[in-house]
Amino acid sequence: MVEAERMRVCVIGTGYLGATTAACLSEMGFEVIGLDVDEDKIDMLRSGRVPFYEPGLDELLAENLKTGRLHFTTDFAEAADFADLHLICVGTPQRDDSGAADLRYVNSAVECLAPHLKRPTVVVGRSTVPVGTAATLAARLAALAPAGEEAELGWSPEFLREGFGVEDTLRPNRIVIGTNSPRVEKAVRALWQQQVDEGTPFLVTDLQTAELVKVSANAFLATKISFINAMAEVSEVAGADVIQLAEALSYDDRIGGKFLGPGLGFGGGCLPKDIRAFMARADELGVEPALSFLREVDAINQRRRARTIDIARQLIGGNFAGRTVTVLGAAFKPNSDDIRDSPALDVAATIASLGAHVTVYDPQALERAREAHPELNYATSMLDAARDADVVLLLTEWAEFREANPEELASVVAQKRIVDGRNALDPTFWRASGWTYRALGRQ
Ligand SMILES: NC(=O)c1ccc[n+]([C@@H]2O[C@H](COP(=O)([O-])OP(=O)(O)OC[C@H]3O[C@@H](n4cnc5c(N)ncnc54)[C@H](O)[C@@H]3O)[C@@H](O)[C@H]2O)c1
Repeated sequence: MVEAERMRVCVIGTGYLGATTAACLSEMGFEVIGLDVDEDKIDMLRSGRVPFYEPGLDELLAENLKTGRLHFTTDFAEAADFADLHLICVGTPQRDDSGAADLRYVNSAVECLAPHLKRPTVVVGRSTVPVGTAATLAARLAALAPAGEEAELGWSPEFLREGFGVEDTLRPNRIVIGTNSPRVEKAVRALWQQQVDEGTPFLVTDLQTAELVKVSANAFLATKISFINAMAEVSEVAGADVIQLAEALSYDDRIGGKFLGPGLGFGGGCLPKDIRAFMARADELGVEPALSFLREVDAINQRRRARTIDIARQLIGGNFAGRTVTVLGAAFKPNSDDIRDSPALDVAATIASLGAHVTVYDPQALERAREAHPELNYATSMLDAARDADVVLLLTEWAEFREANPEELASVVAQKRIVDGRNALDPTFWRASGWTYRALGRQ
């Protein structure tokens, strides 16, 4: 391998994780090639357009294309020829037929790359995979690569948050690399040298521990969200206020306030599928009871969606048929256009299936939402979406919705009724403007 400073990096899979990684590594000074099997995506990236919404990434991509350090391809031979270090960033979605992870894309990435690896090369997985996957892939890589055992594989899970992808990649809160190979460790250390010098913790573990770090982190975060949402369920029937409860809990620094916001619950391309894949893997390993609590975490999360629909139904008198409903939000969270397992869209689609005329507005995710749910109606502004509404549901807490003016919204709706699915609004303020305000976990 060439010297660390001149290391050339290939990023395989240029979705949310890979495109962000490729642009950031180029920004850090590496020569980078991004590879994807999706030709349209590669064409877009080559022409400086990011195929999804991630704050700051458009500018970073454009600037780095200009430097000549950042390239894109669909050709594995070209990538293998170019790079000394390959990062696997392809998707690991939930399988159609079970909760387990669908590993066909990571398997295929290794199988397509390996035959082209003729010189000593390091391959590092960054996708989220079930524990045990990396060891199997390492053996497969060595078996298929002309370089044999000199093609080495480690696993370094990625922790970036969509919406903060650029910041999180340039300034990661930790780097974990699973490997027992000094060469793999050296390559990954070289990649993050600047960050490690600035204090980012660098942990070297075995493959299994590295794989588990990621899924257990997501299991913990999902559990924390469902914990406060379980408290919201209890608060609703006990006459308590879960917002005050969460605030009081947050001052205990053993608990902390992050991920303790009660509301519609989690969604997206990571937490839901990761906890299900984790349970499926535990089952395969014969330790199913160890993670059976995650089944309840998932169930609590799903119940919040049903509860949100119930509150809206109560507000309009018990029946959605023929009613006009506005849904604010389609992305699974603000500052993203990712609609994978989006709670907002799930609720919107269910209400539409119950006979309502549902109009959705989202600042960034309209195009994706329209493709996935053509049965819904879409508007290109909050006010247009809210026109003649019998009830408005705020389901993704974009700043635009948090800052909505109740008087202005009141001027277009048929009835001033709002369900705040994210506890994002000030109830006193909205009620003072004549709105009937309902939220999860509060009276
Ligand atoms: N999105 C996140 O915020 C995030 C954060 C941490 C970890 N992860 C993990 O990273 C992985 C990728 O997630 P994502 O959100 O970027 O997914 P994504 O669906 O946005 O991107 C995956 C990309 O891989 C490409 N691909 C599929 N098979 C390929 C192959 N054989 N060769 C080359 N490219 C191929 C697809 O065309 C797609 O562009 C997942 O395991 C996910 O759990 C994601």
